[in-house]
Amino acid sequence: MRRAVCPGSFDPIHNGHLEVIARAAGLFDEVVVAVSTNYAKKYRFSLEERMDMARETLASLQGIIVEPMGDGLLAEYCRHRGISAIVKGLRSSSDFDYELPMATMNRQLSGVETVFLPAEAHYLHLSSTLIKEISVLGGDVSDFVPRSVLRRILAGESGSGAAT
Ligand code: PNS
Repeated sequence: MRRAVCPGSFDPIHNGHLEVIARAAGLFDEVVVAVSTNYAKKYRFSLEERMDMARETLASLQGIIVEPMGDGLLAEYCRHRGISAIVKGLRSSSDFDYELPMATMNRQLSGVETVFLPAEAHYLHLSSTLIKEISVLGGDVSDFVPRSVLRRILAGESGSGAAT
């Protein structure tokens, strides 16, 4: 069984994430969408909300499971879960510059490979940070997030608080 992980905060999950996860599901037998918790970070949505949104929006796809990643090393998580590849979407050369040292480090730490998928052109400008900023300032984010995420944004669910 070839198992990969798509790790991230998913605060919230957006259409660019979904596209990369769906493509990863076509390459591997199982894809774990691992939702991270970093206690140094302020999230708009709680871990439970971020996982619920991911589960709701990925429910129709086969071979994908959503689970918490915890706050430890991704390399350790992969070793523990028998995961051989980390899949990341790349939107730009600055994404690549940020990701390359982590990919090399993760391979050194646990042998896990990182597979980069170029983001689809339509999603190059999407980020959870921008989507949160636009929504907090009253802008329309319906083109960028799945319907269940939009519902939660419009309902003003704030989970762990502080809208960032
Ligand atoms: O969506 P994000 O916030 O950009 O996701 C970042 C994530 C979770 C992929 C990254 O922070 C991560 O890999 N965290 C695990 C901690 C770790 O392993 N750090 C060492 C990296 S070499």
